[in-house]
Amino acid sequence: MSYRIHVNEQPFDAEPRPGQCLRTYLRDRGWFGVKKGCDSGDCGACTVHVDGEPVHSCLYPAVRAEGRRVTTVEGLAEPGGELHPVQQRFLDAQGFQCGFCTAGFLMTTSKLDADQLDDLPRALKGNLCRCTGYRAIEDAIRGVTHVEEPCPGRSVGRSMGAPAGPLVVTGTARYTFDIDIPGLLHMKLLRSPHPHARIVSIDTSAALRVPGVHTVLTHHDAPERLFSSARHEHPTEDPDDTRVLDDVVRFVGQRVAAVVADSEAAAEEGCRRIAVEYQQLPHVVDAEAAMRPGAPVIHAKPAEASRIARPENNVVGEVHGEIGSVAQGFAEADVVYEDTFRTQRVQHASLETHGAVAYWEEDDPERLVVRSSTQVPFLTRRALCALYDLPEDRVRVVAGRVGGGFGGKQEMLTEDIVVLAALRLKRPVKLEFTRAEQFYGATTRHPFTIGIKAGAKRDGTLTALQLRVVSNTGAYGNHGPAVMFHSVGESMAVYRAPHKKVDAYAVYTNCVSAGAFRGYGLGQVTFAVESAMDELAHRLGIDPLVLRERNIIGPGEPMVSPGGEEEDLHIASYGLDQCLRVVRDALAEDRSAADAPEGWLVGQGTAMSMIATGPPGGHYADATVTLLQDGTYDVAVGTAEFGNGTTTVHQQITAGALGTTADRIVIRQSDTDVVRHDTGAFGSAGTVVAGKAVMRAANGLAERILTFAAEHARAPRGLCRLLADAVECDGRVVSLKELYEAAHDKEVTLAADGHWGGSPRSVAFNAQWFRIAVDPGTGEIKILRSVHAADAGKVMNPLQCRGQVEGGVAQALGATLFEQVLVDDRGRVVTPAFRRYRLPAYADVPRTEVHFMETSDAIGPLGAKSMSESPFNPVAPAFANALRDATGVRFTEVPLLRDTVWRAVEEHRAAGAEPGRPAGRQPSREGSV
Ligand code: FES
Repeated sequence: MSYRIHVNEQPFDAEPRPGQCLRTYLRDRGWFGVKKGCDSGDCGACTVHVDGEPVHSCLYPAVRAEGRRVTTVEGLAEPGGELHPVQQRFLDAQGFQCGFCTAGFLMTTSKLDADQLDDLPRALKGNLCRCTGYRAIEDAIRGVTHVEEPCPGRSVGRSMGAPAGPLVVTGTARYTFDIDIPGLLHMKLLRSPHPHARIVSIDTSAALRVPGVHTVLTHHDAPERLFSSARHEHPTEDPDDTRVLDDVVRFVGQRVAAVVADSEAAAEEGCRRIAVEYQQLPHVVDAEAAMRPGAPVIHAKPAEASRIARPENNVVGEVHGEIGSVAQGFAEADVVYEDTFRTQRVQHASLETHGAVAYWEEDDPERLVVRSSTQVPFLTRRALCALYDLPEDRVRVVAGRVGGGFGGKQEMLTEDIVVLAALRLKRPVKLEFTRAEQFYGATTRHPFTIGIKAGAKRDGTLTALQLRVVSNTGAYGNHGPAVMFHSVGESMAVYRAPHKKVDAYAVYTNCVSAGAFRGYGLGQVTFAVESAMDELAHRLGIDPLVLRERNIIGPGEPMVSPGGEEEDLHIASYGLDQCLRVVRDALAEDRSAADAPEGWLVGQGTAMSMIATGPPGGHYADATVTLLQDGTYDVAVGTAEFGNGTTTVHQQITAGALGTTADRIVIRQSDTDVVRHDTGAFGSAGTVVAGKAVMRAANGLAERILTFAAEHARAPRGLCRLLADAVECDGRVVSLKELYEAAHDKEVTLAADGHWGGSPRSVAFNAQWFRIAVDPGTGEIKILRSVHAADAGKVMNPLQCRGQVEGGVAQALGATLFEQVLVDDRGRVVTPAFRRYRLPAYADVPRTEVHFMETSDAIGPLGAKSMSESPFNPVAPAFANALRDATGVRFTEVPLLRDTVWRAVEEHRAAGAEPGRPAGRQPSREGSV
């Protein structure tokens, strides 16, 4: 009997491959709306309907779909093409950011009945979203409309919908692998089973005999040149310690060889047949141990050549500094608090995994195109050209829509090796990480150990603040020094202690590498600093808010950090006082304690943070805005869109400057062939750096158009003004189309360029407040209320900015409560799947009340500041402070797992202490598993 299924009413007869899942079968036939987020039915991004029932198509054998009707998101719209009601609702509420999860949510929610709608935590348990914090999704399901109508000249400050919205909800937005490339070859990687070993020999002959295998790449094929997978404008920010394929492996999971074949199955079989002889070397996974004399040296490279601070001690970077004398400051203090805080490895878990495709341009076979899930297309091109000695005009790097990044894609983790294969084979080659590889082959947040000592006078005035920070950067130093440096910057500068000291180290270990991740180290150190401030207040009997108000930096004050001052950092707007006022108001009117179950302990806690609005050391963006023939505008800007919403903001800025509506602006971005340089979409730079370049270009074009129109109409320049689709000069209206033609006839291009160098920089502020209840019998915690105050300057798009805050708080709650990448004593990741690495689901995330402060920044475009990273930073300490208030126990480690909380509270009670009284301290969890 022949195989037949109907997909979106179209018949398909091709037999599935043995063992093929329905997801792959559908994607192979071009139904790219069906997304691959995991391989185990955990994330729901691949949800489709089979005979009207939602299923996870990655778990559904394609052969079982025989004779059935399958509907994907592309088939969800009504037959006449009208959007399905849930699609329209997701547009109206903007129930997405990157949108990679959206098709799955649409397919699930389109089948919910009334009972299920009453129990969304249960109904949505099979779908994960990493970006939104779920509130926007809930609003979409409930039919709440947030998106505002366009209004000429009044785009800025309005809740405009993302321009990609219609593509996202219909499954037609094209992410990295949503393209069909004829003759595509597939790459799979053989990874190291050892934490530290030298490759003695490697035999690839059996692998090469596997039918379909085209090549096997080993360290013999890789350039000798060292580089860093981290991408910064200045490559010298990171150590050169990495080879494409190395003859020494330094963590379990490092690439050993790459097999390229006609199919993934053949490439996997090839990997299994490679015989490698290793000479095992001693290893170390603990950062403190790695610094001690006699520890195994992980990178024995000369310090100057590699920019590793002290290779013999595994110290990749360090910073030491003292302002005043902390010894004097502690001597003057009435109370001194000292403790050690620990944070864990956390994975970005963007739903689209890392990956790249390299192929040769059809009409120019000497030009290589790299399509990549990246936040940094220009820096990736630069690195590839340096690595392979290629001229920049021979390489084009393009990002499609990127399915989440959070800093994890500010790395070159796949592009280097697919290019090596493409150069050798002259064929298109694809490498897409599996979800498991994402855990042991990509990067994590840096685990930190933070020793803190803080002293204060009886009235709460700080006298001294001292930190000793050790960051475990893993086997490679990508972002290691920069994260460490940033972590002790704004976290210390926000307080005015006269005596400050810091000693910080970024240390190599034989573990999976850490990298850039939302907050860039600030979240870790803020956990310690804000916990310490709370503890000082408790010990002094002072309201923790009062202690903060007494010591925080004020407007116009210099930012002083013992790690070194950043001269270009200024308080160009100040909303920290307002942030704390929001918390105070929330406290004053709060009734949520009444919602606590009987017998539970109730507490409230606050934390705050400051963050620079862009990265130091140069972050550049160029933009060009052009009037098009049809009277609309084209914006070419380099920065990538991965759910951070910069496309919408750039549209709004342009529309505002040109007096039109955002829907008349087309954005081209993240393609090194069609836009000019942009350092990248990281460090919260999309609005404040790229946005400022766009603003300058748009303002420049407005000026050009008005000048040209005045000449054209022979009217005084001052009597001309821009309308939505025309220019009015002295009462005469000329359409933009007409103006374009007139300019064209005179060989004038109505376009303008804008540039911004990201300096000087301002700072943004955040404060988080929780009221929680704790069951002392089980350690279960309920969040009774969550309030977040954000000083984002002039908020360009309230809907979108609120989404960033909600998403940041949700991501931080995961890291605070349960997320952790666990490694064993060989550094092997033992949680490489969503079933073993718990991501916040709908049921885990409360609705956070988000408040924006009334400030306008003197540096940022139109008064705006950044707000994509910073909401993460105060969440863990605010939560720990609430727990301290409820239980009397100071928790010094995250995640705050239920059994950890229960044990600590039990011990505290056994010691005879009362909840809420200063006493206990969380028992330290030794070991990693
Ligand atoms: Fe849900 Fe990005 S919008 S994963």
